Amino acid sequence: LEDALDLIEEVPDFPEPGVLFRDLSPLFGTAAGFATVVDALGERLAPEVESLAAVESRGFLLAAALGYARGIGVTLVRKPGKLPSVAGRIDYQLEYGTETLELPAGTVRAGGRVAVIDDVLATGGTAAAACALLDQVGAVVTDVAVVLELAVLGGRNQLPDVPVHALRTL
Ligand code: PRP
Ligand code: HPA
Repeated sequence: LEDALDLIEEVPDFPEPGVLFRDLSPLFGTAAGFATVVDALGERLAPEVESLAAVESRGFLLAAALGYARGIGVTLVRKPGKLPSVAGRIDYQLEYGTETLELPAGTVRAGGRVAVIDDVLATGGTAAAACALLDQVGAVVTDVAVVLELAVLGGRNQLPDVPVHALRTL
């Protein structure tokens, strides 16, 4: 697993000067590395998970593989304007401006036990919004699972009281 995670590259000054971006593309692009992180995430999820909520867009990739391996479905938590029929919508603050996420209608049942999947937990705004959206429709968030947590940004503190799994914490 550590070898797989070492495939993540550091890119200085992206997307803007002063930001050190962690690029997971080389990890996603390496078959053994990708399989290793998908398996490791799958091992950490609560046994009772019934479906996965995947955050656009890199969360989709991980959740698709995880859902297939586990035999459970994936709900796409989407950026605005992509879904013809919406069960819930949430606006949340970014460092500059706001962002919106939407949940497709008819995908998550009230009481359904759902894990939130994404690649990176940074400020936590995105994962917290996904959790709040699931809560709006009466779903129960069992876990939040990411490959990489940038702990200095304190994202974990934004999340509800659910287990947060990060394969690497920086
Ligand atoms: C990135 C990442 C997470 C989010 C983490 O997505 O994939 O979803 O940011 O940041 P936060 O914890 O500060 O909210 P991005 O919006 O760059 O979208 P992408 O996956 O489509 O590239
Ligand atoms: N890498 C990938 N996604 C991100 C990052 C990063 O460093 N920060 C916030 N989202």
